[in-house]
Amino acid sequence: MAYMHVPWLFILIQFLLLLVTSGAKVPAIIVFGDSSVDAGNNNQISTVARSNFEPYGRDFSGGQPTGRFSNGRIPSDFISQAFGLKPTVPAYLDPKYSIKDFAVGVTFASAGTGYDNATSDVLSVIPLWKELEYYKDYQKNLTTYLGEAKANETLREALYLLSMGTNDFLENYYTLPDRRSQFTVDEYQNFLIGIAKSFITSLYGLGARKISLGGLPPMGCMPLERTTNLFNGDACTESYNIVALSFNDKLKNLTVDLNKELAGIKVVLSNPYYVLLQMIQKPSSYGFEVASVACCATGMFEMGYACDQMNPFTCTDASKYVFWDSFHPTEKTNQIIADHMVKTALYRFM
Ligand SMILES: *[C@@H]1O[C@H](CO)[C@@H](O)[C@H](O)[C@H]1NC(C)=O
Ligand SMILES: *[C@@H]1O[C@H](CO)[C@@H](O)[C@H](O)[C@H]1NC(C)=O
Ligand SMILES: *[C@@H]1O[C@H](CO)[C@@H](O)[C@H](O)[C@H]1NC(C)=O
Ligand SMILES: *[C@@H]1O[C@H](CO)[C@@H](O)[C@H](O)[C@H]1NC(C)=O
Repeated sequence: MAYMHVPWLFILIQFLLLLVTSGAKVPAIIVFGDSSVDAGNNNQISTVARSNFEPYGRDFSGGQPTGRFSNGRIPSDFISQAFGLKPTVPAYLDPKYSIKDFAVGVTFASAGTGYDNATSDVLSVIPLWKELEYYKDYQKNLTTYLGEAKANETLREALYLLSMGTNDFLENYYTLPDRRSQFTVDEYQNFLIGIAKSFITSLYGLGARKISLGGLPPMGCMPLERTTNLFNGDACTESYNIVALSFNDKLKNLTVDLNKELAGIKVVLSNPYYVLLQMIQKPSSYGFEVASVACCATGMFEMGYACDQMNPFTCTDASKYVFWDSFHPTEKTNQIIADHMVKTALYRFM
């Protein structure tokens, strides 16, 4: 009955081919954005927006504080791993790495930055346009390293992750007077969308084709925003969540427009909003115990230098907490968000 084996063999070969070809589909992860995806670029610049000291990184491999704003890995790391690439995406400015490492993954992100130049000015971090300048240097080095044809292919097939916007609202628009005096919040959102659009158009001009545009989290539920929501106990600041939802709608529309306007591009929205809100509202269904305050220090205010090793209140098991510091998720939360993005949006690139 040899013929009975043929379909199986055929299916097996198809399956192996699929594995081989799908493994080659995304050869590199290239990242732009803020602290949600900064793996240590800020360690190399003069800013207070840092986290390269304990207890940051205490659950990272080797317990190293790398400059990631978490106790362990961040979403870009988990996404890289999900694509069969390395388990971490290194920072472009980190001298421990070279083009050999960056050829499969690199992040240009800078904690504290945003779409708006005025946002990166607040804490003197790397503005988005400068992240793009670094990317252009990277392209040159990659061309020298891989040769032009192979470098072009890598840059075309790579997955580009963009993750920022929270700081434009919380660090800038709602904290400082300038942008509020110039724009209503709806106008400000449109201003940011315009920057996102021209950024992606520039990336496209430089050869990028596969792009994930990251949505905003329910930013009114960050422990810091709950703490400062004085008149409502420790409830989420609903007005910030409403802004996040409307900004995400505008980002979604932007993906539709870009997919129409730029031939051969594929832009998807990777939306962390609902999955993170679920974790916050029903922490126990994800195995968490605490969502309203963070693990580090009192969990109400501290991040960066205020989240320091000497604080006696820091929790012992971060995996019970949704948030690591008052503004950033724990590694476990990051993993759930990344898995969700892969399942709902990024699978299209696998
Ligand atoms: C890129 O190339 C420049 C010039 O050759 C070199 O100075 C720099 O160290 C390279 N960067 C990386 C990450 O290899
Ligand atoms: C941000 O600053 C850069 C460098 O100065 C400039 O080229 C760019 O136009 C600015 N972006 C906006 C939206 O103003
Ligand atoms: C690589 O890309 C550049 C810029 O798009 C193009 O000018 C060049 O011809 C390409 N080279 C190869 C070998 O594909
Ligand atoms: C998105 O686009 C649709 C169709 O063009 C439009 O009706 C809607 O108002 C847009 N939404 C936002 C948030 O811009």
